[in-house]
Amino acid sequence: MARRATSLPLGIAFAPPQRAKTRWVVDALRIAIREGRLSPGSQMPSTRDLAEQWAISRGLVSAAYEELSAEGLLEARRGSGTYVSDRNGPKAVRAAEPIDDPDSGALPDWIRVDPERPFISRETDVARFPVGLWKRLANRVLSGADFDFFYDPDPSGHHALRQQVARYLGFARGIACAADDILITTGTRHSLDLCLRALAAPGDAVWLESPGYAGAEALVRSLGLKAVPVPVDRQGLRVDHAAAVAPDAKLCLVTPSHQSPLGVRLGVERREAMLDWACRADSYIVEDDYDGEFAFEAVRFPAFKAMDSADRIIHAGSFNKSLFPTLRVGYIVVPRSLRARLRAARAETGRGNSAFDQHILTHFMADGHFAHHIRRMERVYRDKSLAAQRAIQDAYGGPLPMLGTQGGFHFFLGLPAELNRPVFRDACRRAGLTLQTAALAASDESDRPLQGLVIGYSSLTLDTIDRAGARLGQLMRAA
Ligand SMILES: Cc1ncc(COP(=O)(O)O)c(C=O)c1O
Repeated sequence: MARRATSLPLGIAFAPPQRAKTRWVVDALRIAIREGRLSPGSQMPSTRDLAEQWAISRGLVSAAYEELSAEGLLEARRGSGTYVSDRNGPKAVRAAEPIDDPDSGALPDWIRVDPERPFISRETDVARFPVGLWKRLANRVLSGADFDFFYDPDPSGHHALRQQVARYLGFARGIACAADDILITTGTRHSLDLCLRALAAPGDAVWLESPGYAGAEALVRSLGLKAVPVPVDRQGLRVDHAAAVAPDAKLCLVTPSHQSPLGVRLGVERREAMLDWACRADSYIVEDDYDGEFAFEAVRFPAFKAMDSADRIIHAGSFNKSLFPTLRVGYIVVPRSLRARLRAARAETGRGNSAFDQHILTHFMADGHFAHHIRRMERVYRDKSLAAQRAIQDAYGGPLPMLGTQGGFHFFLGLPAELNRPVFRDACRRAGLTLQTAALAASDESDRPLQGLVIGYSSLTLDTIDRAGARLGQLMRAA
């Protein structure tokens, strides 16, 4: 029986036909050793294996190994094969030499996630995730893997997962949909990218909330689309303003349940006005439900998509937010008229999801763990939100305006008008508090904009929330 080759195929640097075979075999190996591609101490392929790979005789390979051993570049070890010598230290070029990059210090903020940084941390609390259970499910998936597991060509994503997602959305978010309406993605950023690519062309206008999700704006600009910033007031995105400025926009990206970052909920009249506009302009709305799973109120507000009888809304959700950020699984609920276009866009831009993750998640949902986790984390996030509200106001010595405390990963804290902003900002910096400022727009002429801070609490420990909240309240009182 032929022995199993255990080494990687060895690439040939060059094989000019006019050269004597013995010479190019020796030279190719020598160069590979000197360049460090064959690293010191690594095992060479067996003479039989290399002869087969390079379609030369075994004798030629043996002769080359002997010559390079005589030079001290290789060494034969009795009974275990031939190795690249580490004694003579070939002049290897280090493979991962850092490239001189003048911008290397300037990583975009979203790469540097620090889950314990008050108060910009709007991350999932991964410490509460049932990692042991996830590992057991991973084992179960692998031990039961059949042919389909290794060859599942559905560009919409794993069918059983889409069924679970549809069931969850019908139950918890009021969206009547079936597996065929769902497209699995790697998360909301991927979902937005697909929608923008498939439904808008360079130069087209897209409504974006201002302030809003910076990742969405970056995508819009990178695709050559025109970002139309729309102010957000207590009722959410100002549809009247957007419809006046850019009535022919192709898309509107919106966070209706819990606006990012102001926390307000899109009012019912605004929802109706936005749907009206979408029907009239033949445009679509993308609902980013990024932390909408976590509601602290007894009466749950359904997703915007639940009232979409005209089929104009693409609802986007993300397990990266509800479970853990490195999972990279999300989904969209797609209007019927867009199914084929979005499915094609997903297939054309790389399918994007591993079958392994999708199967584990399917079990996690089907066995009830997802529902259990959401309910549990809802209590955890609600307690953190209440702790932050309490710590800040107790130290400040009175009530402060707050928006978006109905759920999610953060709320918006209005700053008192009399606060000395430069003094406050410097004091916060010295105290190690990293704060994101934002402003709520005035609703009408009789109203005033509200300047404030985004208080992200979800991944902080209660201890950090108490300490940092008390410090923030003191600094607000002092400034
Ligand atoms: C409002 C909002 N939407 C979407 C995302 C991205 O979600 P995902 O990680 O699923 O791409 C973020 C990321 O933080 C976000 O803040």
